[in-house]
Amino acid sequence: MGLKNRIVVLSSGRGSNFCAIADGITQGKIPNAEIVGLISNRSDALALSHAKLRAISYHVIESKLYRANNKFDRPTYEKPLLSLLLSLKPDLILLAGYMLVLGKEIIQTFPKKIINIHPSLLPKFRGLHAQKQALENGEKETGCTVHWVTEGLDEGPTILQARVPILPNDTEESLSLRLLPLEHETYVSALKLILK
Ligand code: GRF
Repeated sequence: MGLKNRIVVLSSGRGSNFCAIADGITQGKIPNAEIVGLISNRSDALALSHAKLRAISYHVIESKLYRANNKFDRPTYEKPLLSLLLSLKPDLILLAGYMLVLGKEIIQTFPKKIINIHPSLLPKFRGLHAQKQALENGEKETGCTVHWVTEGLDEGPTILQARVPILPNDTEESLSLRLLPLEHETYVSALKLILK
């Protein structure tokens, strides 16, 4: 077996996609990979305890400390983030429920190395509350997209998409719940495609 690809995951919260990826690696569904770190911008992210349970090293750079007068100082926040990323020497950086936009410098430092999952069939419904946007637009189906990260928000080239039907009584919550296991599968399959 050759050298393993070094994966860093960024998560802001629950971390179910992080778990799916970590367990996908352990179960051999994703080849040639190891997670060398989880980074969260929130010290209360559940993702951190999932990393701890799995003996994966984790780091917090608390983004709210860089917010003042309702303005987020992204460049200053991203300085320690960039240093940390560089020190982890990632082959891939996976955004998995990372709820902040990544700045230009980080994106340019890691060209073709950053991947995101978004809960819509991009290019439809970029940004926040994608499931709600799909519902409000009267769609009959929606889905998720795993894509390369470029400087435009939710804009980079698609790696893989999967679809779910929207049912007549769906709410944002019920639809998000139905989509979530599909997100997990799709992220794992996309990584398998890239790393095999
Ligand atoms: C997912 O729906 C993902 O697509 C998104 O935020 C959610 C994160 O869930 N943008 P989790 O933290 O991976 O459980």
